Amino acid sequence: MTGEREADTLERDFQHTVDADQRIEPRDWMPDGYRRTLVRQIAQHAHSEIIGMQPEGNWITRAPSLRRKAILLAKVQDEAGHGLYLYAATETLGAAREDLTQKLLVGKQKYSSIFNYPTLTFADVGVIGWLVDGAAICNQVPLCRTSYGPYARAMIRICKEESFHQRQGYELLMTMMGGTDEQRAMVQDAVNRWWWPSLMMFGPPDDASPNTEQSMRWRIKRHTNDELRQKFVDMTVPQAEKLGVTLPDPELRWNAERGHYDFGAPDWDEFWQVVKGNGPCNAQRVAHRNRAHEEGAWVREAAAAYAEKRARGLDRLAQQQLATGGVA
Ligand SMILES: [Fe+2]
Ligand SMILES: [Fe+2]
Repeated sequence: MTGEREADTLERDFQHTVDADQRIEPRDWMPDGYRRTLVRQIAQHAHSEIIGMQPEGNWITRAPSLRRKAILLAKVQDEAGHGLYLYAATETLGAAREDLTQKLLVGKQKYSSIFNYPTLTFADVGVIGWLVDGAAICNQVPLCRTSYGPYARAMIRICKEESFHQRQGYELLMTMMGGTDEQRAMVQDAVNRWWWPSLMMFGPPDDASPNTEQSMRWRIKRHTNDELRQKFVDMTVPQAEKLGVTLPDPELRWNAERGHYDFGAPDWDEFWQVVKGNGPCNAQRVAHRNRAHEEGAWVREAAAAYAEKRARGLDRLAQQQLATGGVA
């Protein structure tokens, strides 16, 4: 009885903190479901950053100039960093990075489906920066105020870097649009291929997203999928006009009454197919990650050996200090 009452009080206090828009920190009591949801969401987010390095990494060796190569390298390295902050955030919840990595490698945990599409030309690098990182920003800016402290703080830095990603993409596209007819056609083709998958990045429609309500109550999520999708469309249409590309949606038009753009529905069958593993590059992405993991084994072993040696050295130092009364 007492135990139950205690649990009730803890739960009430927790919700109170969340409702007051204060952060939950690693040592605070939290419901199991909250912890599980966060580990799953942050892990999926971390995996997306890491797998997301592949489609663009594909173009590093073929970037058309040293400047473009330097920009692309910096961007892809940023994504690795994002993965690291996020894995670290899951560790504050008691998860083990090796365990999450393993789940990604065997396909037990997912990453964003957007990275299961191929990058066919260099224009894809620009369009990914503009649309994919742009959609990520819409998703992630509200996460800077998410209820779990370490996640919120990681997102602040990530969002700053995502803005650079979006800008470099847009700048590349602007340059290409000022180039030859062939370059303009490449940009349009990339926009045609990436527009709908970008809209799918916000997840299924609200009425097919059963976990949204609980996540909103816990303030892990601050806006629904459809709200974020609308925000992205409203933000992107004027940018497309300025760029001089056509977004491949005949239903796209300004709705003065709503004060928003109306737009068509993505192909949700395709979305579920890609989620289930049947997208154009699912197998390739996971196989590549497995290969990279195996090839990186020696780095992990070396780092572990170094850490152990260092810990032993510090141990010896502490013993010496003890023996000399703290004067080493
Ligand atoms: Fe990122
Ligand atoms: Fe990014």
